[in-house]
Amino acid sequence: MIEPRSHFPVMPRTTSARSGRLAILTSGGDSPGMNAAIRAATLLAIARGWEVFGVRRGYRGLLEGEISPLGPSDVGGIIREGGTILGSARCPEFNRPEVRAAARERLAEKRIGAVLVIGGNGSLAGAEALSRPAENGAGGPRVVGVPASIDNDIGLTGLAIGVDTAMNTIVEACDKISDTAAALDRTFLVEVMGRDCGYLAMVSAVAAAADAVLFPEAGRTEAAIVDSVEAAIRRVRARKKRRNRVIVIKAEGVPISVERLKSLIDARFRDSDGAGMIETRVTVLGHVVRGGRPSAFDRLLASRLANVGVRALMAGETRKMAAWMLPVHPSPVVATRSADDPYCWLVDLEAALEETAHLLDRTSPLVQWRARVLDEIEGVLTL
Ligand code: F6P
Repeated sequence: MIEPRSHFPVMPRTTSARSGRLAILTSGGDSPGMNAAIRAATLLAIARGWEVFGVRRGYRGLLEGEISPLGPSDVGGIIREGGTILGSARCPEFNRPEVRAAARERLAEKRIGAVLVIGGNGSLAGAEALSRPAENGAGGPRVVGVPASIDNDIGLTGLAIGVDTAMNTIVEACDKISDTAAALDRTFLVEVMGRDCGYLAMVSAVAAAADAVLFPEAGRTEAAIVDSVEAAIRRVRARKKRRNRVIVIKAEGVPISVERLKSLIDARFRDSDGAGMIETRVTVLGHVVRGGRPSAFDRLLASRLANVGVRALMAGETRKMAAWMLPVHPSPVVATRSADDPYCWLVDLEAALEETAHLLDRTSPLVQWRARVLDEIEGVLTL
C-alpha cells in the first residue's frame, strides 16, 4: 500500500489478538447504513477468528442481557436495508454508574471483552462512560464507537453514517416538490430533520437548488427569518424567469414552525400592495428523511468505519471513535490516521464528544464557518 503523505502519525499496524468476543450494538436514532456497519464488523471479526454477538435494542437490551450470537447468515443481505436489524432504543438511565456496572456484568457473563457502539452523540457518550477507566478497573470492556447520525452533528468526523442517504432523500423530495411548485408558481416551505444542527438543511439546499435555507446556527430572530424568506420570494419573482417557484428549506431546529412561518409570510404579501398573489404550501419531511435504503456511499462509509473500528478493538484499542476525513486538524494526540484505510482516522472518543458539544453549542469554528458560507451565498441562491 502507498502510505498517504501526512504530518499526522499513522497508527502502526499492531498484531491483533488471535481470538476474542465482540459485541455490536446500535443505539439512539437509527440511520441508514447502520446495517452495513453491523455486517462489515461481523464478517471481519468472524474472518479473524472472533466470536460475534449482537445486542438487541442498544444499551437497554444490554442491561436486560439481550445478547445473542451473530453469524454470516444473520447479516446476509442487510447491507441494502435501512434502520438496524439489532433494533435501537434510548436509555437515559445509562448515565448512572450503577446501571453501567450492571451492563458490564452482562458483558462479563458472556466473556465479551470488546464492544463496537454504532450511533450518535448519546450513544457515543454511553460508549465513553461504559469504558471509563475509573469505573472499569483492569477487566472492563474495551469500547470503540462508529459515528452514525443523519444530523452530521458528531465532532471530529467529516461525515457520519446516514447523512448521505438523508441528503439524497431530501433532494429527491425537493425535486418532486419543485415540479409541482413550478407548474403552479408556488412557494414551498420544506422542513427537514436536524434538531440542533442545520447541516442537512444546508447541504440539501445547495444540492436541490433551493432559494433560501433556514438553519438554527444562524441564530436569527423570528422577524429576521421572515424578512429573509420574504426577500428571497421577492427576488425570485423579480427576476422574470419562466418560472417563479420558490423552495425554502428549513431545519427542524429553527425556532419557528413552518405553519407559523407560512402564516407570517402570507400576511406580509397580503398586506403589501399589488404583490398579494403568492401561494404558499408547507411540507414536513420528518422521519421520512431517516428511513430508506442506504445510498451506495453510506454502505461504503459504514463498512469502512466498521472495518477500522473492529481492527482497532482487535488491536487492543479502547475509548476511540472511527472517523471519516477530518474537517478540522486536531493534535496528533487526539487523532491518528488509520493504517488500514487512508481516509479513516482513529480519534480519541472524549475529544470527539468535546467537539460534538462545541458543534451543538455553536462555539466550534466549523459551525461558524458553515453558517458564514451559507450567509454569504444567501443572495446567490435566488439568482
Ligand atoms: O436522528 C437525529 C434526529 O433525526 C433529529 O434530527 C430529530 O430531531 C430526532 O432524531 C428525532 O428523533 P425521535 O423522533 O426518534 O426522537
